[in-house]
Amino acid sequence: MTILESLKEKVLEKFPNQTLYPNKTKDLLSYCDKNVELMLEAYEQDLAEGSDRHTKMMISQHYYGNRRQTKNIDLEVELWLQTELVFMLSENKNKVEKAFIATLFDKWKDVFKGETHETSQSFLENLTMNRASFSFFDEDFKVDAVKTEKILAAANGITPSLGNNFHYRVDVLPQETKDAMAPFMHSFYPDATDETKKLFEENPHAHTKAEWTKLGVCHNHQFDAPLVLAYSIPVPDDGSYAHWTTEQFETSKDATFVALGLNMWNTICAAEEMGLNSCCLKAYNKKALTTFKTKTSAEMPEGWSWEPFIFLCIGKGLEAKGDHRKYKPRGIVNTLDFEVAA
Ligand SMILES: Cc1cc2nc3c(=O)[nH]c(=O)nc-3n(C[C@H](O)[C@H](O)[C@H](O)COP(=O)(O)O)c2cc1C
Repeated sequence: MTILESLKEKVLEKFPNQTLYPNKTKDLLSYCDKNVELMLEAYEQDLAEGSDRHTKMMISQHYYGNRRQTKNIDLEVELWLQTELVFMLSENKNKVEKAFIATLFDKWKDVFKGETHETSQSFLENLTMNRASFSFFDEDFKVDAVKTEKILAAANGITPSLGNNFHYRVDVLPQETKDAMAPFMHSFYPDATDETKKLFEENPHAHTKAEWTKLGVCHNHQFDAPLVLAYSIPVPDDGSYAHWTTEQFETSKDATFVALGLNMWNTICAAEEMGLNSCCLKAYNKKALTTFKTKTSAEMPEGWSWEPFIFLCIGKGLEAKGDHRKYKPRGIVNTLDFEVAA
């Protein structure tokens, strides 16, 4: 009998014919069907690699956006299921393997019970594991002034200042600007025809949003989030998007981009810590940037202006992005061979 079959048998023994919410027999059985195979695979892969990242990814699938993904099953019952699963998995393993699986299982318990003791994961580790990018935000929810101030404080100067040569700026996008940009905050699905692209560029109001979606327009609904931060960099007015020189701006554009990304992560952490969610938004039509102008009192080299490069959309997430919680077993650490040149 497989572990899945044995676990389902245990469920039928302990929760026979339970039809009342929560912990209905059918929900418990379907939880097993949906999850057990992946969980076992993750434990086994971590055992084989001596790592914990597969378990972490598996946890993240069941806990995205820092929320448990089932309301139908009580936490104690979910933990009971997990305990039974780990027990069965450990049955014919040796002592060392048993101990290793136990430490992996501790990660489950820590995350699900929200316990913080010496051996548990830090807030940051939990966040990195469980955060999701959201495509839809609650339109009735507003980010209040206190939270906005905290988010802006996180984005303001604590993070890479590049020796006080910040060549990026963070601004709350005003509602009027958002409204003007909104029709162009999209990309295209691969099946969008050139005709659709042209028509959309010319008149984004020719169809409803739903009709455009059918024609292959991919709307970035996260742009409707209550708080949108624009991350801007200097661009030359000639439209070339050329790199700047260190005479024009002291820190290189490449280093500036890395710093901007680090700043975004710090800002995302601040938002998440307050129970908010976020999504980065880079895929938009360049036309969006022609709907407004930026002004600054700061000195700029002749022929350069600030232009938003990427947006960070913040609010109460309703629907996580589809690709976010896909199982991602691909490792990217220590995969390259560095050969010293002869
Ligand atoms: C720099 C950056 C730009 C992104 N731009 C967009 C975008 O324009 N539209 C969108 O729907 N998602 C965008 N995303 C979200 C990704 O498509 C993806 O859903 C997200 O990164 C998945 O989360 P993960 O990277 O934590 O797995 C962006 C993500 C990053 C990091």
